[in-house]
Amino acid sequence: AATARYEAEASPAVCTGTIDSDWTGFSGSGFCNGTNAVGAHAQFTVSAPAAGSATLTVRYANGTTTARPADVVVNGTTVAAGASFGSTGTWTGWTSRTFTVPVAAGTNTVRLVPTTAAGLPNVDHVEL
Ligand code: GCU
Repeated sequence: AATARYEAEASPAVCTGTIDSDWTGFSGSGFCNGTNAVGAHAQFTVSAPAAGSATLTVRYANGTTTARPADVVVNGTTVAAGASFGSTGTWTGWTSRTFTVPVAAGTNTVRLVPTTAAGLPNVDHVEL
């Protein structure tokens, strides 16, 4: 099925931090700059046509030299623990990484939950 894009700045997405637009190259009108803290998450409500495996794409930027690990949590279950969101060189260096995740038919909740005090990278959007 075709993928859909879900912007971090668009309700009903949740950003535990601020929606910023100071680093160019994002899609939509901004990105989630999560608070630099363990657990300061970005959450997306995504739709899947059928239950099964789906490809989740996360577009992010990490302008530091240190990876920012985060759990990928789908419908309350951690499906990728401490996934590495590596340096992208600069804060305008947006890149995407993908995960294969289990989904239910219909509405699903995807949460990116940082596991270190550095918090999340800047998160632009997800696609599923
Ligand atoms: C800088 C940058 C932010 C980023 C933050 C961070 O302040 O401007 O966009 O979110 O670093 O380290 O998380």
